[in-house]
Amino acid sequence: MESTPSHSQDADLIRPTRDVLEHALVKDRAAMARAAEQDLQAFWAREAANFVWFNGWDKVLDDSNPPFYKWFTGATTNIVYNCLDRHLSTWRRNKLALIWEGEKGEQRSFSYHALSREVCMFANVLRSMGVRKGDRVTIYMGRVPELPIAMLACAKIGAIHSVIYGGFSVEAIHGRIEDSQSNIVITCDGGYMNGKVVELKQIVDEALKRCATVEHVIVIKRTGMDVPMEEGRDYWYHDLMTLPVAKTASGQSRCETEEVDAEHPLFLLYTSGTTGKPKAILHTHGGYMVGVATTLKYVFDIQDDDRFWCTADPGWVTGHSYVVYGPLLLGATVFIYEGGPTYPFPNRWWSLIEKYGINILYTAPTAIRGLMRFGEAWPNRHDLSSLRLLGTVGEPINPEAWRWYHRVIGKGACPIMDTWWQTETGMFMITPMPETPLKPGSGTLPFPGVQADVVDEHGNSVKPGEEGYLILKTPWPAMMRTIYNDNERYVEQYWKKVPGAYFTGDSARRDADGYYWIIGRVDDVIKVSGYRLGTAEIESALVSHPAVAEAAAIGLPHEVKGNAIHAYVMLKAGQEPSDELIAELREHVSHEMGPIAKPEKITIVPGLPKTRSGKIMRRVLKARAQGLPEGDLTTLEE
Ligand code: WT7
Repeated sequence: MESTPSHSQDADLIRPTRDVLEHALVKDRAAMARAAEQDLQAFWAREAANFVWFNGWDKVLDDSNPPFYKWFTGATTNIVYNCLDRHLSTWRRNKLALIWEGEKGEQRSFSYHALSREVCMFANVLRSMGVRKGDRVTIYMGRVPELPIAMLACAKIGAIHSVIYGGFSVEAIHGRIEDSQSNIVITCDGGYMNGKVVELKQIVDEALKRCATVEHVIVIKRTGMDVPMEEGRDYWYHDLMTLPVAKTASGQSRCETEEVDAEHPLFLLYTSGTTGKPKAILHTHGGYMVGVATTLKYVFDIQDDDRFWCTADPGWVTGHSYVVYGPLLLGATVFIYEGGPTYPFPNRWWSLIEKYGINILYTAPTAIRGLMRFGEAWPNRHDLSSLRLLGTVGEPINPEAWRWYHRVIGKGACPIMDTWWQTETGMFMITPMPETPLKPGSGTLPFPGVQADVVDEHGNSVKPGEEGYLILKTPWPAMMRTIYNDNERYVEQYWKKVPGAYFTGDSARRDADGYYWIIGRVDDVIKVSGYRLGTAEIESALVSHPAVAEAAAIGLPHEVKGNAIHAYVMLKAGQEPSDELIAELREHVSHEMGPIAKPEKITIVPGLPKTRSGKIMRRVLKARAQGLPEGDLTTLEE
């Protein structure tokens, strides 16, 4: 799959229909961008005024110690107060906040009142178990309503949640718990995905054998399967929620929302980078709140009668920002579906859009390509006329998939918001708005207030049409504040390559109209089905197998996944290569890292291409696998 063929830059612009334009909150994006450029702080201060702050800010942006930027300094708030509490005194109290459907077809829904009640009770439970402001809580669950409830309950009392995606496994969990020093893990007995059961509790038990810090495990009953509960350590959620501690002394299901500094940490979210150690990206209450809600409002044009469906798992940043926090901040109705898109049949998503009258669908290119393979008959059996806007995120969308999504799902009338952003940015950075003329495969323009550029090795802007590094030149409120407990690595990885600018790790092109075309990662990150994985983590999972001496992982193009992992493995002396061993190694990676990291193909090799200093030259492996020129080999020692 070629992501962004250069000829598509000349494609005709696709303009919004009159209906879309009339509905859109932003009619003149250029004017908005000019205003933000002229006075960045005034721009964000105007948006921040839409929220409740217990104390006002002294400064919108404190840039006295770059790259450690601070936003809304001196102010106090709590994102949960703005997501829940403040809606309760308005008509939204009885509006649906969350609609959920399980893979087996069960339905649950929560009004703002009901969601807040559940969050309050669980927050009381957490407090009674000793969770305090600033403590880290690990959440590892399937896609059930208790996942956002647990996140909100933590944030409500000022605790820091660290959600680990349910598709990760033993070693990934162990490493993340140990790094964050969590005392509490919240999980489910199991989860449903594609008709199968994921044994979440059992995976947690195995991970906890490797780490000592965890005192308590709270288990949500989802499947009802038999799971061992360790006396004194493990508790059922439904038991805890019936205890008197879940309520106030007078029996009310209330819990005071903790007033926190705008810069108080909200969550850690681990993501992969260049080394084997995952980085805990740190986001805060104030700036994140303003950035996420503002981008969601203008890009997806959310209004009170909308039903918004972001298909992402809350375990990734897309889910944090645009399933949980963004929609609730806007008082919107969000839909969550537990399972896989093709279960039991490839019309599952389309039937959900029809059944719940979804107005805005935000998903990933890999899902579109996967569903496209089943043909148009599946979506055509459903009434998709409620859809007004579409969106995509996670990796470049190939124009063929873009056009299918636009024509077959959007019936040619729904603009596609191709939003470029990262775990680190917290919010959309390069994105269309409903009014923006579109080019299939391009994320179009930077969000107002965002200054991007495409530069060469030396930090100089390249010419239109040329490829270079994508950088960001101005701070934004939802930006990461640091890597948790590792300020040095934060500076090193993001702010050193081009002095004074944020280095995204992506390569891109900008065309003559100023539109951005993302090409892909320039580091050792592989995007598999939009999931971000680090080669080093996969390699260390392989090397933890007793038969393996050395390993190298690369990403190669894949029709549906975008990229697939291919691994090259050198065995220890005395080990015999065999198909059984290869199968065992694939299983081993899946067991340690998670099924999403399972290599597509493993090749056993007698040696790996390395530099004289011993660094594996993955680019040589990649070129060889694709039959491409191997480039400069002067440093190669074979
Ligand atoms: C990387 C960040 C941000 C939500 C999910 C991913 C790639 C993301 C796009 C897009 C082309 C994209 C980039 C980026 N990416 N959105 N619309 N077009 N590429 O978050 O896991 O932190 O990954 O995803 O390579 O750097 P993430």
